[in-house]
Amino acid sequence: MNASFPKNPEPLWRKTTAMPHFPSLTEDIHVDVAVVGAGMTGIATAYLLAKEGVKAALFDAGEIANGTSGHTTAKITAQHGLIYDELIGHFGKEMAETYYKANEAGAACIEAIVKELGISCDYSHQDAYIYANRDQDLAKLEKEWQAYQTLGIKGEWLDSLPVDISVKKAIKMEGQAQFDPLAYLKPLVTFLAENNVPVFENTTAKEIEYGKPVKIKTDKGHTVSCNTVCVCTHFPFCDAKGLYYTRMYPNRSYLIAVKPVKPFPGGMYINAGQPVRSLRGVTVNGEKLLLVGGENHKTGEGEPMIQHYEALQDYAEKTFGIEKFYSRWSAQDLTTLDKVPFIGPITKNEPNVLIATGFRKWGMTSSHLAAMIMRDKIVNKPNPYFKLFSPQRFEGDPMVKKFLSTNLDVAGHFIEGKLDLPDKSLQDLQQGESAIVRMKGKRAGAYKDEDGKIHVLDTTCTHLGCEVNWNSGDRTWDCPCHGSRFSYTGEVIEGPAKKPLKKIAEE
Ligand SMILES: Cc1cc2nc3c(=O)[nH]c(=O)nc-3n(C[C@H](O)[C@H](O)[C@H](O)COP(=O)(O)OP(=O)(O)OC[C@H]3O[C@@H](n4cnc5c(N)ncnc54)[C@H](O)[C@@H]3O)c2cc1C
Ligand code: FES
Repeated sequence: MNASFPKNPEPLWRKTTAMPHFPSLTEDIHVDVAVVGAGMTGIATAYLLAKEGVKAALFDAGEIANGTSGHTTAKITAQHGLIYDELIGHFGKEMAETYYKANEAGAACIEAIVKELGISCDYSHQDAYIYANRDQDLAKLEKEWQAYQTLGIKGEWLDSLPVDISVKKAIKMEGQAQFDPLAYLKPLVTFLAENNVPVFENTTAKEIEYGKPVKIKTDKGHTVSCNTVCVCTHFPFCDAKGLYYTRMYPNRSYLIAVKPVKPFPGGMYINAGQPVRSLRGVTVNGEKLLLVGGENHKTGEGEPMIQHYEALQDYAEKTFGIEKFYSRWSAQDLTTLDKVPFIGPITKNEPNVLIATGFRKWGMTSSHLAAMIMRDKIVNKPNPYFKLFSPQRFEGDPMVKKFLSTNLDVAGHFIEGKLDLPDKSLQDLQQGESAIVRMKGKRAGAYKDEDGKIHVLDTTCTHLGCEVNWNSGDRTWDCPCHGSRFSYTGEVIEGPAKKPLKKIAEE
């Protein structure tokens, strides 16, 4: 028995696959298409464009595929939790059907790429299940099942699951898939390098000048000019233009990889209620492991984050038994107010600045759908999915209601954080501990690292001024307003913020 909790967060995929590295941009360049952000979306987009012979270049602020795509569960499915009944309600039957077909197309695109490049990435077909294990979730699941029938989605209504979890009812969607995301992306990046598509790491897009050409200024002062830019930076780095920070909210989840005592029979599972529990198997070096995910919450909010890992560990122990604990990690994704991603021009007046974001933790299919939509916009091909995913789509009632509550929430965080009182003095801090303190009359965040050094930062988020909160699970400062995250030394880990937190003291 070796079920000890890993000290540091590290996604399993970083242990299974080492990605190649690339230089940063050191001069001004011009390309036809600049693909900014090298996660699943950016890499798939650059790959599809390269196959069309478009002259593109790919940029990332850090290391490629180390954003959400390197931290995902990597289920490839059109079963996006409970969604179809809601989509019929918001958009009507035709658009809900379009959503399903679009995500099937995204999944088919991944399978085609796996085949055409002969990628060995633990890709396998799996059935996807969503289940209700509590009476209060049953009505929602029944409605979802009715939506499957209305839309002609192939599924089964079940009384039990192949896995040993007792349920009231479940819906099976057959023939979905799963893979190792980094093992999949690595050959795509190799393809780019072999086909003269430059890739740049450690090159952050800071500013954009709209026009023809579009000009992007990088953090090191270089200019990338291009006819079209595909903004695949998760949160669009140029978010002000379409006020995207008012139209999406970030949500974090946690994952653990364990060797279970009870063998896992395969399949991909998620429950219909709270707290979320998501399951899939994975084989690493011949060993059959189990990924357990869930514990969703808005970024920067909620109980001490470490407790979310403990809750997953507790669930895995009780449900399967844990023989060995491999990895733990967490990540966040963005949800739009109507739950449908934004893929297309950033505003109707900027047809050459394309964005792809708001995948609601279902970005394996959505990233490839986005890559196809952006490719077709660029090479002027028709695409049946332009309209539904357009960031300029009509914002009906549900969006307006959610808009008000999300932004009131942001306003609340803005004021609330400023009124916080200090919770400890610097002298009382233990190693590995953080606290809110007052320094020079301001709210400040202090963290004492493993070497005993204390890092004190101004906790005012450099995006729009909300107050960041401590994330004990990942040792980061997270902003509850739009999801920016900062290391304990202040560097930006995740946008929309572009500037580090201000250092107040180091001792
Ligand atoms: C815990 C969790 C589990 C999930 N599980 C699943 C699942 O099972 N199935 C599924 O379909 N989806 C899942 N998702 C969702 C999916 O992982 C994401 O939607 C998807 O990975 C997003 O890909 P992306 O390329 O858009 O973003 P990212 O992978 O985050 O890539 C964005 C890239 O842009 C770079 N960047 C950011 N700002 C700049 C800048 N200014 N300049 C240059 N580069 C920049 C970043 O460094 C990063 O590499 C999950 C998400 C989470 C959080
Ligand atoms: S991310 Fe917008 S204020 Fe912090």
